[in-house]
Amino acid sequence: MKVVTIASYKGGVGKTTLSANIGAAIARMGRRVLLVDLDPQANLTLNFYDAETWQAGLADRRRTVKAWFESWRPHTAPPPLAGYVTTPPAAAAVIAEGGGRLDLLGSHTALGDIEMDLVGRLGGAQAHRSTRYYFDVYQQLALGLASFDPSDYDLVILDCPSHFGVITRAAVAACDHLLIPSRPDNQSTLGVEHLMRRLGRFVWEYNRVAELQSGLHPVVKPLEPRLLGVVLTMVQYYRGAPTRFLRPHIEGARQLGIPVFDAMLRVNNRGFAGAVDLPLPAVLSPDLTLDLARELFGLVEEFLVRIGAARGEAAPVEDAAVPVTSAWMS
Ligand SMILES: Nc1ncnc2c1ncn2[C@@H]1O[C@H](COP(=O)(O)OP(=O)(O)OP(=O)(O)O)[C@@H](O)[C@H]1O
Ligand SMILES: [Mg+2]
Repeated sequence: MKVVTIASYKGGVGKTTLSANIGAAIARMGRRVLLVDLDPQANLTLNFYDAETWQAGLADRRRTVKAWFESWRPHTAPPPLAGYVTTPPAAAAVIAEGGGRLDLLGSHTALGDIEMDLVGRLGGAQAHRSTRYYFDVYQQLALGLASFDPSDYDLVILDCPSHFGVITRAAVAACDHLLIPSRPDNQSTLGVEHLMRRLGRFVWEYNRVAELQSGLHPVVKPLEPRLLGVVLTMVQYYRGAPTRFLRPHIEGARQLGIPVFDAMLRVNNRGFAGAVDLPLPAVLSPDLTLDLARELFGLVEEFLVRIGAARGEAAPVEDAAVPVTSAWMS
């Protein structure tokens, strides 16, 4: 079971679009995928449920990640996540053809309250100074995912909110790979730099606290997440090729030592609006055009090679994923 966190510092760069479409495409190819919506905006959830069904079937019936977080009691193991997972029916109908499976742990608009509770439990932003609940908070999601049988899912994707808060950090602590979407503009490129610094600092801090508390927490393994790289989204093309404004953003990321996916997503307002009358992401939509299908499945193939889960003879990518390092802190 591979766990990939999709995160960014800048909002609206395509995290949720990538989570929904990469996850659904891989499920459609016959694999078992779990999507986890960690954003109180619940956009990922709303890619798979209409608003009424989400309210009545998930939010009111406590089938959300918020309800799961709420059920946590200090110093006890979190309850198994499986009881909070749903199978979105419209997506399941399309995916079943290929023998795959797509499940979702939906979000709730009040997930932000949980985040505040978790911050309170940690003792504030300078959490490492008051470490009593440090691992209770940051390991909770990882333990929740560990409650699945490894054969339940081939891939788990964690879609994060656009800030580096406690829930995003818990996702970093629960994953083995990270993916950063970015738009080719200056603010998004700066956002990638900010995120790398925060990632480097968090992984360093976590491992340092684990070291200091090794007598108290013998089970804490050091974090070693690997960065798959940046996926450029909403790219403008001119006469069949990306505009020249793209180059500095690719070079910028490479200079920081971050891999950049060869595949990218073009601006496609109609294509990413989803299906007209069904809650389905673009890749499962009956209106999916051949061009967008090629683009999405091309990206998915590169993604599978980079996480080391491609079938067949795919050659390993040289810079497939780089370790998150404390050198990024400065
Ligand atoms: N390639 C694209 N072309 C056109 N529109 C896109 C493309 N990718 C995403 N969008 C649209 O841009 C908006 C933002 O995308 P998305 O929700 O995936 O970003 P996000 O990073 O998850 O945002 P947030 O920070 O709010 O969680 C959405 O309305 C989405 O449908
Ligand atoms: Mg989002």
